[in-house]
Amino acid sequence: MIFTLIGIIAGVVSYLYGPYWGVRKVPGPPIVPLLGHIPLMAKYGPDVFSILANRYGHIFRFHMGRQAMIIVADPELCREVGIKKFKDIPNRSMPSPIAASPLHQKGLFFTRDARWSTMRNTILSMYQPSHLASLVPTMQSFIESATHNLESSKQDITFSDLSLRMATDVIGQAAFGVNFGLSKPKSVTDTIDSDINNQDNGNEVSDFIKQHIFSTTQLKMDLSGSLSIILGLLVPVLQEPFRQILKRIPGTMDWKVDRTNKKLGHRLDEIVSKRMKETKTDSKDFLSLILKARESETQVSKNVFTPDYISATAYEHLLAGSATTAFTLSSVVYLVSKHPEVEKELLAEIDGFGPHDQMPTAHDLQHKFPYLDQACSIFDF
Ligand code: HEM
Repeated sequence: MIFTLIGIIAGVVSYLYGPYWGVRKVPGPPIVPLLGHIPLMAKYGPDVFSILANRYGHIFRFHMGRQAMIIVADPELCREVGIKKFKDIPNRSMPSPIAASPLHQKGLFFTRDARWSTMRNTILSMYQPSHLASLVPTMQSFIESATHNLESSKQDITFSDLSLRMATDVIGQAAFGVNFGLSKPKSVTDTIDSDINNQDNGNEVSDFIKQHIFSTTQLKMDLSGSLSIILGLLVPVLQEPFRQILKRIPGTMDWKVDRTNKKLGHRLDEIVSKRMKETKTDSKDFLSLILKARESETQVSKNVFTPDYISATAYEHLLAGSATTAFTLSSVVYLVSKHPEVEKELLAEIDGFGPHDQMPTAHDLQHKFPYLDQACSIFDF
């Protein structure tokens, strides 16, 4: 009996402290059992990482509950890890919000081993500069649409909202070949909060966007997410059993997330299967390009890019590309606004390019805006 008890305790302790043991030699603050460093996050908010970097150096440990993370807090080392050595660091660990959401698990971020390399190699061909350059007119048209009547608007404009609309529209078009219409002056995001549970208004695009935004905003690591996500942070083995139970109880956050993710998944599957049936298409969106690459490549690529992985990867682009781009744009505008002399010179360079409706080519963007390039590199973007 005693041995069984000791065995159970040893099992629990090694389960909880296993990830810590692997990285114990990396500097970092002492951990609180079960919670790791979450209390520090609650105390200092987002500043926690710079405070810890000052105290422990450029490479330190941070524990989200039981999960150990190594934080790299130096731009040059980040480049090393994120660009130069990117291919040597496969198999990311699964954060608990993603573990609760099968929809997000089949994109590039969370696929593993050989599947990741195969998917990545196929996708990389779509990032050729010539293809990216062909997207400039798409960007231009959404920017024009979003900024139309901006000057005559009497209300204040929240730039981060505007940039999120533009970025989502550009990526929606580039990933799926669908115009979400968010950059139009009055659009579906005005009604996003209206009712996520009653989506029978028949407007497929606005439903899709509502579900996308709900699903994305539920991917939280800060103890305000669904119960199963919180459990996943603290005791990961309990996450899936609890999620299975809670998703069956109407009204719980797990139920809502599961319902929304299922609807979103069905809608994505529909888009993919419809596109697969279109035999002749000259569309240049990401989805069509994957389908074409899959046809022309080996059996391996066909086995890897099954419809569920295709829809997850296209959807991942929307997820990975919109908030990141919008945040970068907003930050640049904010930083520039804090330096009026830079702002003046930037505006002079941009206005000097030509009349308002003249569209720059990719070549123009690379060569005709030296001051803009310089400003971006100073702000480290
Ligand atoms: C300023 C904007 C962006 C920033 C700061 C950013 C940042 C990052 C970072 C740090 C990673 C690596 C994550 C990791 O290894 O765990 C990543 C991966 C990824 N990003 Fe971005 N990203 C941006 C824009 C975009 C855009 C526009 C797209 C697509 C349209 C995109 C799609 C992806 C994808 C698919 C991956 C996974 C790559 C892989 O696993 O091979 N990102 N991004």
